[in-house]
Amino acid sequence: MASVSLTNVPFLLVISLSIFISSIIVGSANNFYKDFDINWGDYRGKILNHGELLTLSLDNISGSGFQSKEEYLFGKIDMQLKLVSGNSAGTVTAYYLSSAGPTRDEIDFEFLGNLSGQPYIVHTNVYTQGKGEREQQFYLWFDPTTDFHTYSVHWNPLTIVFSVDNIPIRVFKNLESIGVAFPKHQPMKLYSSIWNADEWATRGGLVKIDWTYAPFIASYRGFSASACSLASGKHFCSSSKPNYSPWLSEKLDLMGEKRLKWVQKNYMVYNYCTDTERFPRGFPPECKAIS
Ligand SMILES: *[C@@H]1O[C@H](CO)[C@@H](O)[C@H](O)[C@H]1NC(C)=O
Ligand SMILES: *[C@@H]1O[C@H](CO)[C@@H](O)[C@H](O)[C@H]1NC(C)=O
Repeated sequence: MASVSLTNVPFLLVISLSIFISSIIVGSANNFYKDFDINWGDYRGKILNHGELLTLSLDNISGSGFQSKEEYLFGKIDMQLKLVSGNSAGTVTAYYLSSAGPTRDEIDFEFLGNLSGQPYIVHTNVYTQGKGEREQQFYLWFDPTTDFHTYSVHWNPLTIVFSVDNIPIRVFKNLESIGVAFPKHQPMKLYSSIWNADEWATRGGLVKIDWTYAPFIASYRGFSASACSLASGKHFCSSSKPNYSPWLSEKLDLMGEKRLKWVQKNYMVYNYCTDTERFPRGFPPECKAIS
């Protein structure tokens, strides 16, 4: 597989230079006050325990959400989430990176709730230059409502890897060589929100929210980002070893490929790349290159 040479990607040079003049640590201390703003839902979004915990809630009036103060251009971003427990049918907890504007890039996790004891669906999508329609959905191999689990996006110039508890569930490779746009120019903020999606979320919209169970609450902790952030027009990278950011050129290793196959074989619910009804005239070009 072709690798990206530094000379082809001028800003990487900026990154490597700025590593020596800056070691901004993004989110390393996990303080939600420092790294995020509650941007929707008033008191329904709460930062607790001196900034270590954040909760979002949804009731019959409104949902709620937060967004990062930083904008990232590539990063290794991890967050622990505990999803709405009990009857969460019709609720969606979205957790995603997104740039602004009509040609936005977006890297999405959405957690579709369900009736008590029925499985959540993890819905994923990738938008490049405003174009999405790349959904893949998965069940989880654990109950995501009883404890915190880590949901990660590792995004570098070569690839985007979605992982759950360090197990890769989806990979979106840089396939610019075959004409597929890849997010690499537009910085993104990290967002999360909980909202009413009972028009479509649970069993395709068949199961509505039961408001007697409100408020519906999702919890967050353990945010960490080794990321390149955009500060005053320049890109800065941070990591625990400031002179060395291996994640910037990391791809899935053999163990990762194996685990990805395991998830896709046993837990994948939907894959746009096999949906012939939706793409009667042929699948998008990246589908040929997806394992
Ligand atoms: C919303 O829920 C509250 C508390 O359960 C209830 O008192 C109120 O009537 C509900 N409002 C609407 C618009 O359904
Ligand atoms: C909810 O449970 C039903 C029944 O087990 C299942 O078919 C569905 O995929 C589950 N998840 C969602 C989000 O609908």
